[in-house]
Amino acid sequence: MARVLVVGSGAREHAIAESFAKDNSINKVYVSPGNDGIAGTFDCFKYDAKDKNEPFAELYNYIQEKKIDYVFVGNEQALADGISNYLEAKGVSVVGPTSEAAQIESSKVFSKNLMKKYRVPTADYAVFNDYNEADAYLEKCSYPVVIKADGLAGGKGVIIAKDQDDAKEALRVIFFDKKFGEAGSQVIMESFLFGEEASIFAFSDGDSFVSTLFSQDHKALYDGDEGPNTGGMGAFAPVDKFLHLKDRVDAEIFAPVFRGLKSEGMPFKGVLYAGLMIDGDKINVVEFNCRLGDPEAEVILPILKTSFADICEAIITKKIDGFELEFNNQYAVGVISASKGYPEAFERGKPIYFGENLSSMQGSIYFAGVKKQGDAILTNGGRVLCATAIGDSLQEAINRAYEMTECVQFSNQYYRTDIGQKGLKD
Ligand code: AMP
Ligand code: GLY
Repeated sequence: MARVLVVGSGAREHAIAESFAKDNSINKVYVSPGNDGIAGTFDCFKYDAKDKNEPFAELYNYIQEKKIDYVFVGNEQALADGISNYLEAKGVSVVGPTSEAAQIESSKVFSKNLMKKYRVPTADYAVFNDYNEADAYLEKCSYPVVIKADGLAGGKGVIIAKDQDDAKEALRVIFFDKKFGEAGSQVIMESFLFGEEASIFAFSDGDSFVSTLFSQDHKALYDGDEGPNTGGMGAFAPVDKFLHLKDRVDAEIFAPVFRGLKSEGMPFKGVLYAGLMIDGDKINVVEFNCRLGDPEAEVILPILKTSFADICEAIITKKIDGFELEFNNQYAVGVISASKGYPEAFERGKPIYFGENLSSMQGSIYFAGVKKQGDAILTNGGRVLCATAIGDSLQEAINRAYEMTECVQFSNQYYRTDIGQKGLKD
């Protein structure tokens, strides 16, 4: 029986904690820092990272005190900040890469150079440290061009410029207004990829890997994929129409990238997220992330038949070789309820009402931006919660996820009404 700690504070970490809690081999699940919604079910511990030299010292003390067997890291910032390096040096087992291997997400330049060197298909690109050189490149590149800040920017560091004027403005806000802070001191410009996006994860122990089914995020704010990009307004899994591409993704993308990271002296141990652009039989990597996706985790984990704890233990004990993943023959749909105004300004502090019927529905509410006041749960973020439901068909999962979403109400609630619809077509 193991005691496990999940690091992170969003709906993804709530879903991860629930996956562990369902597992017979886990007897206690802690979340750090978690949030007031997650704290309704799991013990949450807010650590103080004030000592910049040792930001995870308090967390380590908590791990010792609670006799935690291993740590699963949900979010990229902690990984980029070296949580795995720190805890592993102290003898704690961690599912999550070192900060060196996490550069696959924390530095787009690192990630693109790695893909090029190990021949992983991705958009052609150029790297710039200097505004004038970047500006000169705008004369000869083709449009639309995609401009990306190098560092972590919470999924917002990407600008798609339709013409030279747009691109000039993008460079100005990155280099001069420092819109993305230090993350924008280096910039990538890459060619625009056409097609449909999908996400897939691989669990790796540094030597071997095993990949999941595909899921699909809905990044745009409005129905029909219109409006600004967000952190994700909902997701569904599996994506049947891409299933036939899974072996190719393993061979052409995951195998060379894990081999590459190992050859570079930074084997990747944890969950690698590949964001793909698929256009007919062309598959390109848009991005890698060094952790599970949010909201993709909320739909992949509930349909996983294999014990999540077994996967984590296989990663820690280096037994992924030959490990097979099984999924339920079902669909999951997750609908995000956000605060109106997100991803720009929005109001917080709205009480959330949970309808009576909610407890009899088959599914889960995963909390993200919420806080507790007395007995009430109030909104406290742009993305407030994710209602996830499972069904024997995608349509059934969609219907159930929306029934749940309608059962949860707050005054400035906003959600997309077409999550999963893409999966019903072709
Ligand atoms: P990233 O942070 O690199 O995942 O980019 C965020 C989003 O921008 C992606 O999910 C895509 O929707 C879009 N994007 C990024 N790169 C490209 C590209 N080369 N072509 C088309 N869309 C892109
Ligand atoms: N769903 C996108 C991400 O997790 O980065």
